[in-house]
Amino acid sequence: MSQQTGTGTVTVVDHPLVQHKLTIMRKKETSTAGFRRLLREISLLLCYEVTRGLEITHERIETPLEEMDAPMLEGKKLVFASVLRAGNGLLEGMLDLVPAARVAHIGLYRDHETLQPVHYFYKAPSDLGDRLVIVVDPMLATANSAVAAVDKLKEEGATNLRFLCLLAAPEGVERFTEAHPDVPVFTASIDDRLNEKGYILPGLGDAGDRLYGTK
Ligand code: URA
Repeated sequence: MSQQTGTGTVTVVDHPLVQHKLTIMRKKETSTAGFRRLLREISLLLCYEVTRGLEITHERIETPLEEMDAPMLEGKKLVFASVLRAGNGLLEGMLDLVPAARVAHIGLYRDHETLQPVHYFYKAPSDLGDRLVIVVDPMLATANSAVAAVDKLKEEGATNLRFLCLLAAPEGVERFTEAHPDVPVFTASIDDRLNEKGYILPGLGDAGDRLYGTK
């Protein structure tokens, strides 16, 4: 289901398999191993949606029986840009589906006092301007990190971007689409609200902690 916000486009991937897996991930009793496996599985399904509509070209091939013009992805390889560290949980499954994709890593953490993003790492392919860049970060909460990650990728030349998350808060969607109306957002759910610490409610807790068993 796609909806137009005041400024941008948000697609909620409401496929029953996605919603079922997401519910299990939300449960507080779900183990680290279970959470990790589900995030990988769900990222395959989300990747399928976020890459829908990619341009296709045709190549003349021979099957064992005859020749045909067969569809292939057009253009340069995709870039998946993972916002560390929880972005890597989505990245793994996406690379299962698109193994030839290039990868960017953006190190940003959220200062727990100010909730503002702090940059600590950036490494990406140099020709971002020629590629579709899909930014992945499981939680679009305040959107401070997401906005900062996309700011950085645009500074480095990216012009064609999409943003993929697992959960979003309405406040995050509003802030992100205002800052980057040209970047469509894909998510499995838009939850109710943020709490005073910037966590999504009802949410699933801290995605990085749940993924890596920290805290
Ligand atoms: N980051 C998380 O991991 N969880 C939230 O709820 C918000 C931001």
